[in-house]
Amino acid sequence: MTQTSDAPDVLVEVTDLEVYFPIKSGIIFDRTVGHVRAVDGVDLSIRRGETYGLVGESGCGKSTLGKAILNLEPPTAGSVVFDGTDIASLKGEDLRHARKRFQMVFQDPMSSLDPRQTVESLLLEGLRAHGLDTDTDATRARLRELMSDVGLPVAALSKYPHEFSGGQRQRIGIARALSVGPDLIVADEPVSALDVSIQAQVINLLQDLQDKLGLTYLVVAHDLAVVRHISDRIGVMYLGALVEESGGAELYDVPLHPYTRALMSAVPVPDPQVEDTREQILLTGDLPSPANPPSGCRFHTRCPWKQETLCDTERPQLRVVEVSGASDSHRVACHFAEKIASGEIQRHEVEATITTPGFGGPDAGPTAPPEAYIGV
Ligand SMILES: Nc1ncnc2c1ncn2[C@@H]1O[C@H](COP(=O)(O)OP(=O)(O)OP(=O)(O)O)[C@@H](O)[C@H]1O
Ligand code: SF4
Ligand SMILES: [Mg+2]
Repeated sequence: MTQTSDAPDVLVEVTDLEVYFPIKSGIIFDRTVGHVRAVDGVDLSIRRGETYGLVGESGCGKSTLGKAILNLEPPTAGSVVFDGTDIASLKGEDLRHARKRFQMVFQDPMSSLDPRQTVESLLLEGLRAHGLDTDTDATRARLRELMSDVGLPVAALSKYPHEFSGGQRQRIGIARALSVGPDLIVADEPVSALDVSIQAQVINLLQDLQDKLGLTYLVVAHDLAVVRHISDRIGVMYLGALVEESGGAELYDVPLHPYTRALMSAVPVPDPQVEDTREQILLTGDLPSPANPPSGCRFHTRCPWKQETLCDTERPQLRVVEVSGASDSHRVACHFAEKIASGEIQRHEVEATITTPGFGGPDAGPTAPPEAYIGV
């Protein structure tokens, strides 16, 4: 058991985390010819009771980071400390016991719910796995409570997943995560498979449950609007690492990293006057492969503010910067964040660079068209 962090309100502390996937080649010898660096040096902490939103392009490592935090993906290096305990040090009964405290809600509830089981049986499965089904009356009361918590009728317990709508199925997924009484829920794209009208209901449900049960959330999403609505703090990921982190509202008011600014500029604003005058950043170039990331700043191949020095040679670390409007908890990984914010460095055209695909498996190659707004 490793005790870290003096701050009592930190529930999860991630330090220098790396998760690499080997790329194998050869039918007979199965040689490792490279690695997909899905998570490549992440430091972050999640405070008790907060919602931490994680955004970034497809393939930047959000889900892998979420799984590593839940001990579902072993780290290649670095550590995840949950409530003072390094989760890599947990084995056997200790690990099973700890798993009760962190649960996951998936994007597609249909694929995460066994279609042959009723809702009751799905919920009982989790309770039994953690020795929480010892008294029949208490279990019945608990199942009814779970249904009420997620806004479903008690009659739903005897139905099968296919009998529900997408939003209702996500409520069942949430009930299953809640059934074992977790402290932390990692919600990976919890509403991206749902209609927009249903998305708001599920987001509101997550917020109500947080208030009622004191839950801590890590919410992974492509959609900046979803993350903005729900998050106390937001981390922006690019190619396996955090490039910016700040309080939710502050990130939108004072985005400092060029990549964050590009993400923001891709989100439409309802007011046509604001929409016409706001910053538009068209990113050129492919998203490089995480199997063969660029040297220096990972974003330099697409950055409209890239400079002749440092950008392609030195990897910038997350740091607090002195910029008007940015608080001392706002961190950004850009060598020139202050000069970009002050306007001393101006945007320029980005020369198209040829990216070497590397060995990233089916999803790891270039994923964006050569010239596109980033799809978030
Ligand atoms: N089990 C695995 N084996 C090999 N490579 C993997 C594995 N899981 C993920 N990857 C690769 O790691 C990188 C990060 O994947 P990850 O699923 O974490 O990204 P993501 O940000 O969640 O993407 P999305 O938004 O599309 O869900 C991708 O290049 C992906 O192909
Ligand atoms: S370090 Fe350089 S390339 Fe990276 S975001 Fe900052 S200006 Fe752009
Ligand atoms: Mg994902």
